[in-house]
Amino acid sequence: MKDLLIRGRVLTFIEEPQGIDDTQSYLTVEDGAVLVRDGKIAAVGDYAEIRRTAGADVTIADHRPHLVLPGLIDTHLHFPQTQAIASYGAQLLEWLNTYIFVEEQKFAAPEHAGFVAGRFMDELIANGTTTAVAYCSVHPQSVDAYFAAAAERGMLMIGGKVMMDRNAPEALRDTPQQGYDETRRLIDKWHGRGRAQYAISPRFAITSTPAQMEMSRALVAEHPDCYVQTHLSENRDEIAFATSLFTAAKDYTDIYAHYGLLTERTLLGHCIYLSDREISVLAETGAVGVFCPTSNLFLGSGLFDRDRFDRLGARWSVATDVGAGTSFSMLETMAEAYKVLHLNGQRLSPLNSFYRMTLGNARVLGLQDKIGSLHAGADADIVILDSSAKPAMELRMRTATSLAEELFILQTMGDDRCVAETYVAGKAMKGRRIAARRELET
Ligand code: GUN
Ligand code: FE
Repeated sequence: MKDLLIRGRVLTFIEEPQGIDDTQSYLTVEDGAVLVRDGKIAAVGDYAEIRRTAGADVTIADHRPHLVLPGLIDTHLHFPQTQAIASYGAQLLEWLNTYIFVEEQKFAAPEHAGFVAGRFMDELIANGTTTAVAYCSVHPQSVDAYFAAAAERGMLMIGGKVMMDRNAPEALRDTPQQGYDETRRLIDKWHGRGRAQYAISPRFAITSTPAQMEMSRALVAEHPDCYVQTHLSENRDEIAFATSLFTAAKDYTDIYAHYGLLTERTLLGHCIYLSDREISVLAETGAVGVFCPTSNLFLGSGLFDRDRFDRLGARWSVATDVGAGTSFSMLETMAEAYKVLHLNGQRLSPLNSFYRMTLGNARVLGLQDKIGSLHAGADADIVILDSSAKPAMELRMRTATSLAEELFILQTMGDDRCVAETYVAGKAMKGRRIAARRELET
């Protein structure tokens, strides 16, 4: 395959930004370029320089004046809930019972799972998201559909079969042994195959018996290179129910700690009502609290306390949590993250927002060498963002005077219309027409 030279305004983070305009935290190149060879980034820098070293036989994708960033990363969502976004009127437990446990039963059918998986991946790509961590349904065939759709598109996706053996409809329940066996088979089949990564996924303490939690412990101990994902402290009724089921636990977090589920590869959805003690346990174990702003607002769950995570030294990431989350767009998600933190008297700077969607989320996954930043040797997962994609944005952009302001406009007013192109392992996945035209020109 010919080399590809992506030209535009390159922006990539090096460190977490401290403060509103920490220019040390990122690299920008106004007339920049990313050279892509065999699905990986071969060089990043000044266009003229890279053009010179690239040789004559190169395809040029000229995206000026748009921004060239690493592909966006979503650390928590549910692929079988794609058609359940905007389910009306209920908070978490009622919403699960009324809508979600009905919807997820459809994924017993491989054709249905295959159809939704394809559309799900395309929707991520349309929104500039190149890697995501998703729950599949309880059915192993939903995991097959998920990873097959990701492989077809060349995407680095993380996911796993939900395990549930109580407090869910019969058709969605496995047993401790079945959950264990099916998870093991799926790990053998998918983990490390191409770009696929497996996440061991007990849904949450309410839907797993102590016996299934024990099986989860065994799975996590036997597969230290897999991820672990579950939900923690999202809603007050949920917390009361969960702690009533595990009376020996000090608190909700202690349930997962007791079963050995808190590791550096553990992603805990929501974490809204944690005590300082619980957040300190996350800090000690390296487990990550996942902030899902659109979901927390939509289900009326509550406000994530980012400052306490930072003060107690615990890691956090950001995610859409579709289908309780209302959008696949990480831009729209960060717009709501800003508002949620604002309601708590906290600030999220635009630089920090963009850091979070890229390098920050890559770091909590331990994948910062591969994704989340533009550097030689990284996978060529890249998004092209147009800050003036909508007329109102174009007008607003005329008054913008800094990069930070432009990023704030992008996240506050932007959505999938701002995604001019998404490259997955160096392949243009969204605007093939644009790529083809550029190819003719050069
Ligand atoms: N807690 C347990 N399952 C779920 C789910 O599917 N979505 C959300 N938002 N919270 C959960
Ligand atoms: Fe969730």
